[in-house]
Amino acid sequence: MGKQRVLSGVQPTGNLHLGNYLGAIRNWVEGQSQYDNFFCVVDLHAITVPHNPATLATDTYTIAALYLACGIDLEHSTIFVQSHISAHSELTWLLNCITPINWLQDMIQFKEKAIKQGENVSTGLLDYPVLMAADILLYDADQVPVGEDQKQHLELTRDIAARFNHMFGQDEEEILKIPEPMIRTEGARIMSLTDGTRKMSKSDPSELSRINLLDPPEAITKKIKRCKTDSVRGLELGNPERPECNNLLMLYGILSGKTKDEVTAECQDMGWGKFKPLLTETTIEALKPIQEQYKAVMDDRTYLDSVLKDGREKAEAVANATLKRVKTALGYSTPL
Ligand code: AMP
Ligand code: TRP
Repeated sequence: MGKQRVLSGVQPTGNLHLGNYLGAIRNWVEGQSQYDNFFCVVDLHAITVPHNPATLATDTYTIAALYLACGIDLEHSTIFVQSHISAHSELTWLLNCITPINWLQDMIQFKEKAIKQGENVSTGLLDYPVLMAADILLYDADQVPVGEDQKQHLELTRDIAARFNHMFGQDEEEILKIPEPMIRTEGARIMSLTDGTRKMSKSDPSELSRINLLDPPEAITKKIKRCKTDSVRGLELGNPERPECNNLLMLYGILSGKTKDEVTAECQDMGWGKFKPLLTETTIEALKPIQEQYKAVMDDRTYLDSVLKDGREKAEAVANATLKRVKTALGYSTPL
């Protein structure tokens, strides 16, 4: 039996932060040799909210370079850019026509983003999860590693695939493969540094709320120094009454590679004055190799271009085969 297929993606909106890394990319890297992986930079998703045309292309390259810098290995994985493959847009249209609109109106992320945007909500924002379903279904993905926040979109993807198969498959034939979400509990939800009850997010207006993978040591030091804490004595993990404390200790554990018991033993008698420098040092050290690799990749643009060209060719072959299957099932004629 061949390896199972994995597909995932990140949007090129701004810099990647620790939540993206620990909730998503680090898990891709750890499991990659067991799977046949496709990782895309989802730049079509990036324009569902107002975006800056002057930086879209550079932001896209940045994310692709960060994939490589974080350890995505081309021996096991294909890296590509969503907009380079037109099948993503085309399958989205076809799936739009079988997706009930209320399924999309019920999506938590849509509701949250729509509230934030007020008047200016595009059809694309509502349709975002269908594009995501197309991304996944085009590659017959078995597993989709994402953070907890994407679980609902994965369920929707499964519902769309099942509905399509039911409507257009002959004798229960699986035209679209139903994918499984792959959600790790550790690191699945990294919280904001300024509010431990909200997730760390690219869209938070405060830079102090997140640590970006490319932040220099001074920025990391400043952000951790200013981050929100509490005034309870002693530090602990797992107390829901202390969301900031829990988040910071969890971060320390993941970044240092220490278990919960080890973190508890080491930190329970500490105050913030002692813990913060420790977390700062650990974060700077953990990000250093990624930042060095990133610089090396960005300095060699020819290499990055060739990675994306190869990725596009490999991905396109798979995507086009699925698109053809779908169009045939829908009854389209094939042009000569
Ligand atoms: P996004 O930033 O929304 O493009 O998310 C890219 C990936 O990072 C997705 O798999 C998300 O689930 C994951 N992710 C984003 N923010 C966090 C967070 N605060 N904690 C854990 N995972 C996250
Ligand atoms: N919506 C995802 C997010 O914000 C990004 C994404 C787009 C994605 N297409 C995907 C993730 C396909 C996994 C698989 O994180």
